[in-house]
Amino acid sequence: MIVKIENMDHNGRGIARIGEKVTFVPFALPEEVVEIRITKEKKKYNEAKLIKLLTPSKERITPICPYYNECGGCEIMHMDYKSQINFKKEKVKNIIDKYTNLKIEPEVFSSEHNLNYRNKITIHENNDKIGYMKKATNEIIEIDSCPLAMETINKYLKENKRKIKKELIIRTNEKGEIISSLQNNKMIIEINKLKFQIDINSFFQINNDICSKVFSYIENNINNCKTCLDLYSGVGTLSILASKKSKYVYSIESNPHSHANAIENLKINNIKNIKFMLGKVENEIKKINEPIDLIITDPPRSGMDKETIKIIKEITPKTLIYMSCDPMTLARDLNDLKEMYILEKIAIFDMFPNTKHIECVCVLNRR
Ligand SMILES: C[S@@+](CC[C@H](N)C(=O)[O-])C[C@H]1O[C@@H](n2cnc3c(N)ncnc32)[C@H](O)[C@@H]1O
Repeated sequence: MIVKIENMDHNGRGIARIGEKVTFVPFALPEEVVEIRITKEKKKYNEAKLIKLLTPSKERITPICPYYNECGGCEIMHMDYKSQINFKKEKVKNIIDKYTNLKIEPEVFSSEHNLNYRNKITIHENNDKIGYMKKATNEIIEIDSCPLAMETINKYLKENKRKIKKELIIRTNEKGEIISSLQNNKMIIEINKLKFQIDINSFFQINNDICSKVFSYIENNINNCKTCLDLYSGVGTLSILASKKSKYVYSIESNPHSHANAIENLKINNIKNIKFMLGKVENEIKKINEPIDLIITDPPRSGMDKETIKIIKEITPKTLIYMSCDPMTLARDLNDLKEMYILEKIAIFDMFPNTKHIECVCVLNRR
């Protein structure tokens, strides 16, 4: 069947209409004429496979990755980088508008490198097959290297591939040092002249260049304040930024590895005005009983739970800085907060080039 692609969905798939029915075509771009085969027929939509590209888009490029069509880790590598950025900007604008009715123009920060930017990868092994786990399956796509990973990671993978049993996490820093779950030790990563100890089990942003831009943006948007609360604080990155402009910072994180790194990071950076609390945000936040001027929140993809949002509203900080890796849950939470807070600005950071994923930072002020 031959169709014309009209648009793109938030997952980076092309959208065609067959009669009234929407049909999702992965790897197809707007304006393209393509031959497709329907692979799934649902009541409200179809899913299809791109069989032949008849009229390619001006935005199309040849993906550099040999595993691109099967791996599923990247969704938009067939799009030139400028168009990827445009797609992400429109996606955030549309989601915010749709779920909050707020019209806002995001500021966009693109990535210095759109390849070899990942400072961490996870490789799987099953029945001697070694590679990435295909999204939403148990299937392993065998790989020798990943074009998104930093060179030192690919080198380490090549040298150690045959030692992998079940799972291997590999991490590197700006000096090219490596830690992995084969040699479970800690490493220092340096961003904007701050040093952060991380270990293989703690969270850290995966694109160093973008991480540096995010830190500068957040630092520039923090006004001097008395007390700050940093939720989902990881190894203490944003708390340490906030500590320079706050008298005191309380931080909450549930992962004990990250918590231990965070305490070490106080010593490494010679900081004395942060208290790191180990536990779930939804429990620990109830123990804060003093006025808070600023809350920084950076939850996992699932966003914040209702109870936490309720307590944030009771605390009523003057400013809220919300960092998010999922615009959908961000929009849901902003919708809950909009009665009390004005969304002053939103910035998009291209933390994950060639994928559909986006990092956002919002600045909100109390009405
Ligand atoms: C997106 S990361 C942010 C980390 C940190 N702000 C940074 O920039 O490196 C989210 C963090 O929330 C933690 N986390 C997830 N659910 C949590 C919860 N319910 N309570 C506290 N921390 C949680 C994770 O362990 C992770 O470190």
